[in-house]
Amino acid sequence: MEFIKVTKAYQKHIALIQLNRPKELNALNIQLMEEISESLKELDKDDEVRVVVITGNERAFAAGADIKQMAGKQTIDMWKEDRFTTWDQINKTKKPIIAAVSGFALGGGCELAMTCDMIVASETAQFGQPEIKIGVMPGAGGTQRLTKAIGKVKSMELVLTGKFINAEEALHYGLINKIVPVELYMEEALKLAKEIASMSPLAVQMAKESVKRSFEVPLDEGLQFERKNFYMLFSSEDQKEGMNAFVEKRRADFKGK
Ligand code: CAA
Repeated sequence: MEFIKVTKAYQKHIALIQLNRPKELNALNIQLMEEISESLKELDKDDEVRVVVITGNERAFAAGADIKQMAGKQTIDMWKEDRFTTWDQINKTKKPIIAAVSGFALGGGCELAMTCDMIVASETAQFGQPEIKIGVMPGAGGTQRLTKAIGKVKSMELVLTGKFINAEEALHYGLINKIVPVELYMEEALKLAKEIASMSPLAVQMAKESVKRSFEVPLDEGLQFERKNFYMLFSSEDQKEGMNAFVEKRRADFKGK
């Protein structure tokens, strides 16, 4: 991997992907996105991994797609590159992904954070979709995921003016889970990851799948989907372990079986 660092066993059951183009503020070139997508595919298959944390560095989570790489492109070049296949693959990840964001999360950087399942931010985090300022618009889900997260009017404002919002505003509008001082954002993301990693990984993945489904389908269809996943978990050892542990007043030890 050239543009990311992957640590499979960063902590027990927790993998870490760190974007590693610091001089370019982690601008997302095509190869970097391929590396994230490939790594997540691998981590998704690894039973030892239950939660993935994606981060950048203190100054930047990611300042967007690599503008220098795109500047001279024509429509057909963009079409041939098929750059959003990697994004679709990331979106298919079954395991929960937590974005630990500090500094800039702009354009594709904001879209990458929103493709994750939860966002823990440092108090220096800034979110925005500034593509309008460079003559285009969000292309990796910004108009859709931002609108679903923060609603139409605020999303319109950000997408049409390109202005950034700080962590306080992002929390107020429901874009992020939590703000912490900059020296604690990784620790806080890992704390959340650890809590989720202590649950049944099967239940976690099916619950994630069900929550995501609510964005795709009408309520009735979503309820049916949820019910099937709920029933399915009753064929897992983890369901027996979880419920027996409750009855026996002890801590459950989930094995992902
Ligand atoms: N692509 C390529 N390079 C980038 C970049 C990007 N998105 N963002 C920053 N960089 C590079 C800069 O060119 C600069 O490189 P050089 O030192 O070689 O000149 C380096 O990173 C540091 O950046 P700045 O000097 O600009 O740092 P700053 O602190 O003055 O400003 C910033 C920081 C406000 C984030 C500014 O860099 C900026 O506005 N970046 C672009 C943000 C943007 O427009 N993102 C959207 C991209 S399009 C997109 O994402 C499409 C999509 O939906 C998929």
